[in-house]
Amino acid sequence: MSKEILFSSLRLGAIQLRNRVVMAPLTRMRANAAHVPTALNAEYYAQRSSAGLILSEGTAISPQAHGYPNAPGIYTAEQIAGWRVITDGVHARGGRIVMQIAHNGRNSHSSLMPDGVLPVAPSAIPPTIPALTKAFQQVPAETPRALETSEIPVIISTFRQAALNAMEAGFDGVELQGANSHLIEQFLENGTNQRTDAYGGSKENRARFLFDIVDEITEAIGADRLGVRLSPFGQYGGIHDSNPLELFTFVIKELSKRHIAYLHLIEARGSEMGLTDELHEDALNNAALFRPAFNGPLLSAAAYTPESAGEAIEKKHADAIAFGRLFIANPDLVERIKENQPLNPPDRSTFYGGGAHGYTDYKPFGAAP
Ligand SMILES: Cc1cc2nc3c(=O)[nH]c(=O)nc-3n(C[C@H](O)[C@H](O)[C@H](O)COP(=O)(O)O)c2cc1C
Repeated sequence: MSKEILFSSLRLGAIQLRNRVVMAPLTRMRANAAHVPTALNAEYYAQRSSAGLILSEGTAISPQAHGYPNAPGIYTAEQIAGWRVITDGVHARGGRIVMQIAHNGRNSHSSLMPDGVLPVAPSAIPPTIPALTKAFQQVPAETPRALETSEIPVIISTFRQAALNAMEAGFDGVELQGANSHLIEQFLENGTNQRTDAYGGSKENRARFLFDIVDEITEAIGADRLGVRLSPFGQYGGIHDSNPLELFTFVIKELSKRHIAYLHLIEARGSEMGLTDELHEDALNNAALFRPAFNGPLLSAAAYTPESAGEAIEKKHADAIAFGRLFIANPDLVERIKENQPLNPPDRSTFYGGGAHGYTDYKPFGAAP
């Protein structure tokens, strides 16, 4: 019964969704070596356009923002043109698509950086997970270079330009990657931010980078086309804060005042990157915990089944649910849920990199094998 609620419409700021089954942002590393989306990427997104909303894979705002080989960017004319084919395909099928714009910060490798320089971060503290090189090799993480104060406004305006580029490419809006240990979260949490300038120290200072970006993008494209993704209590890459409850309550209340289109929270119960099937059932329920702090639509992600998704919406913990791995394996996830069809299991070995196999060759139900 509770699954029915997934098929009701929903408005996120200026964006009207025809259902509440959202495709989570999923890095698949199948753009070309110049980080330009391809025809294969367009086919993949078009296959999934019955989602109420597609959130694109994390997309780099500048050459310095990359963290993975063959992941796309949104800073060249070729990239904008490549994305335009994708947004046209999704819109032609009645879907909606928002670009997740991202800066990986320290979760990168010098082989992916212009001129092979070190990745940047708020402070020179390395992540606890290996890096991936341009040649898809796993290597120990490097110690990043701490950003100069004068470089920070440049990155903030690069986020603004990326949002404008995304609109030019035909997206319905942008989502800021403030989760999963990317640069914004590296600024937020005091385990990775030991700065002594206006962007470090107090929670207000550590959140300044995020709020400056939100304010710039709001001015450029409107708050009603901007979502923010956060992963409170997440630990990916060794990210941590001494008082996450206080930090995220403050951040979310401030975002609420800015009337963004939606807040998107990853549950600490699942794996924030979907890299294991392990569940931490005793973890706090972020959607329920932070809902009172945010006066606007809330998306929740991580380890949902269609049933638990319906329940979360019925209990008013969230307004829509983002599915990651289920959308990798089920291009027609919406139809399968509606028709009570079995779900394909995802093949982890084809998550990152490669071609059509494990990307566009998952069959819709009823298709010939
Ligand atoms: C292959 C893969 C790539 C991912 N890439 C991104 C990404 O680009 N940006 C992001 O915010 N989260 C990313 N995630 C996390 C997912 O959006 C989602 O939060 C996670 O998979 C948990 O949801 P699930 O249990 O429904 O898969 C990725 C997860 C997977 C499995």
